[in-house]
Amino acid sequence: MKIICAENDREVGRYAAKYIAEVIRERPNALLGLATGSTPMTTYSELVRMYREGEISFAGARTVNLDEYVGLSPEHSQSYARFMRENLFDHIDIRAENCHIPGGLAKDPIAECKAYDDLLDRLGRVDIQLLGIGHNGHIAFNEPGEHFTKDTTLVELTESTVSANSRFFNSRDLVPTRAISMGIGRILKARKILLLAIGQSKAEILARALLGDVTPSVPASILQFYQGELTVIADRKALSRILEK
Ligand code: PGA
Repeated sequence: MKIICAENDREVGRYAAKYIAEVIRERPNALLGLATGSTPMTTYSELVRMYREGEISFAGARTVNLDEYVGLSPEHSQSYARFMRENLFDHIDIRAENCHIPGGLAKDPIAECKAYDDLLDRLGRVDIQLLGIGHNGHIAFNEPGEHFTKDTTLVELTESTVSANSRFFNSRDLVPTRAISMGIGRILKARKILLLAIGQSKAEILARALLGDVTPSVPASILQFYQGELTVIADRKALSRILEK
């Protein structure tokens, strides 16, 4: 595991974008595993800048996102499909048909999970997977529980996640309580993983995930057993507990 300490969120974005750009330069049809939430936003704005300045092209790249809320259409202002268009896809030369996100409006969400796994099998191994970490240690929407999920699953979001995400909705009642999430087994198949964390509020959970016991009650702790290349890019605040230890 490599840990990179950035000064601030912009610098986290610059380091992460550089890693992603290297993968695309080496393999123009790279399969990128993408994440949503506030953490990857500076990474996406840096990738957009690199594209605009001619440093990188996504013309051959393909993407799979980690998760989507159940019940939100791709046009809904808080859907992850919309988030990805607004923060990345609409500003780069990626082809829409190469971008994949679980369908939030699927009539049968369990069948949608299976369909997403079939898609992942067809697309092959993710070249680089971007991850944030939730305050409760979740990665994607794999919430703390009794076991590590393997395949794409329909998840009941925990109170803490609904609460954390309510900042994006007009009222807490409007926050979806279910999501479709790529399973941890799937995430660990990626060739490379970039785990990003920003801010003091992530310091404790980041330390537990990377230095504590490996346990499904802290889903991100499984990254300690990951066999590929793991790079943690975090700002000084998010790394503060780890630096103390
Ligand atoms: P955040 O969410 O980037 O909005 O903090 C991270 C996560 O829940 O994975």
